[in-house]
Amino acid sequence: MLDSVPPFTLVDVPGSVPLLGHLPGFKKRPLETMFGWWRQHGDALRFRLGPKTLHLFSHPDLAEEILVQQSDRFVKVYDPRRPVGLALVLGNGLVTSSGEVWKRHRRIIQPVFHRSRMAAMADRMAQVGEQRIAGWADREGQPVDIATEMMQLALEVISQTMFTTSMAQHIKHISRALRVSLKYAFDSFHNPLRLPSWVPTPRNREFRSVMQFMDGLIYGLLAERRRTGATHGDLLDLLLQARDEETGAGLSDQELRDEALTIFAAGHETTANALAWTWYLLATHPEAKARFHDELDRVLQGRTPTADDLQHLPYTRAIFDESLRLYPPAPAVQRKAATSTTVGGLPLPAGALVLVGTYNLHRHPAFWSNPDQFLPERWLNGERPASRYAYLPFGAGPRACVGIHFASVEGPLLLALIGRRYDLQLAQETVEPELMVTLRPKGGIRMMLQPRRVPVVSAL
Ligand code: HEM
Repeated sequence: MLDSVPPFTLVDVPGSVPLLGHLPGFKKRPLETMFGWWRQHGDALRFRLGPKTLHLFSHPDLAEEILVQQSDRFVKVYDPRRPVGLALVLGNGLVTSSGEVWKRHRRIIQPVFHRSRMAAMADRMAQVGEQRIAGWADREGQPVDIATEMMQLALEVISQTMFTTSMAQHIKHISRALRVSLKYAFDSFHNPLRLPSWVPTPRNREFRSVMQFMDGLIYGLLAERRRTGATHGDLLDLLLQARDEETGAGLSDQELRDEALTIFAAGHETTANALAWTWYLLATHPEAKARFHDELDRVLQGRTPTADDLQHLPYTRAIFDESLRLYPPAPAVQRKAATSTTVGGLPLPAGALVLVGTYNLHRHPAFWSNPDQFLPERWLNGERPASRYAYLPFGAGPRACVGIHFASVEGPLLLALIGRRYDLQLAQETVEPELMVTLRPKGGIRMMLQPRRVPVVSAL
């Protein structure tokens, strides 16, 4: 077990090469590299990617200091005047913005995610889920890429719940556009040799064309809603109706675009990856899968699940929680020190780049028993890590995920909805994780759609 008792020592990761630093190894397998460094060198590390120096912190006390206690000092890394990384795609939306803009926009958006709205959202999620799995009927007994299926399902859920519209006919284009743009964004962050996006290289042209497509889609949605004047009480309404308290001004078209695209992307990528990893874990743990199916049969008796059912499906929820622990869709959270400060007693200069290593925290042997094993039971037995900051799938502090309640309903609900009808069996040997902003299964996951005998619904 690692020595993880404060005070902390900042260790410089060995193996830095001139100019590039640790970039060559990191670029090939960023997640495994950071995991390996942590296992070998401890909870507080410093490494270099080209000209940038980064700090990797993988201890709950350090995570709490950065994300909660010093949240005003550790800010987002994006500058709207010089966008890099995710800001190239999402602009200055809720994930990437800071300061007053972020505060004002979070106040506008937050109400759509209020707990009281979740039962209605769950009904819509279930409708979408039923529609999509109805389309699986002619593929039963065949292998499908479950990662793509989950991406398309989650995309339709977010379109229907947040924008009251269907994106079904654009789904393939949108999936490709987001894959291309997120990969571009991720590479832009750690590639010091990248040419600016206005230079007409083939890659830049591809990026610009998928962004044009996404912009067209979002501006189309906004124009349609303005034209019809219809109100649905959804996110789009809240954004369009928002007025500045002092000036009375509404959001600009650019602001509307950035917020809508942010919810669109952040609201499905993460959940879809979490669901894909969950199917993989269930397929490789037959006892857990049998218990999952038993619970669904007993509680649902073949019915479509509702939000109310979730409280009677503790094992299904535990499976989702455990999957988020082993494969957190956001495996690291990034910040920049706005001023010089200390973390865990370690001095950091102003501008220091910091990563909170969520993936590492979730497998920290000082805080989890059998950390690398899939054990949903741990969530049932009331076992909790000694620190609440050892489990951060949704982040922590003021910038924690705005969609946490939504995702906590959507994940287990869709698992139940699919698991009651299908037994998903792995149809490939191995699955590798790939870090591309979110933690994806590399190349997807081929799984057999094996129909289950659905129990007859009781007449009583
Ligand atoms: C399993 C699903 C999800 C996971 C694991 C997840 C994870 C996260 C994490 C870790 C953060 C914090 C990032 C940081 O501190 O830098 C975050 C922020 C955010 N998430 Fe999620 N998320 C999920 C689902 C959703 C959904 C369903 C939505 C919207 C419908 C959403 C929208 C957002 C937004 C807008 C932010 C930025 C919040 C802010 O800075 O004010 N997420 N998410």
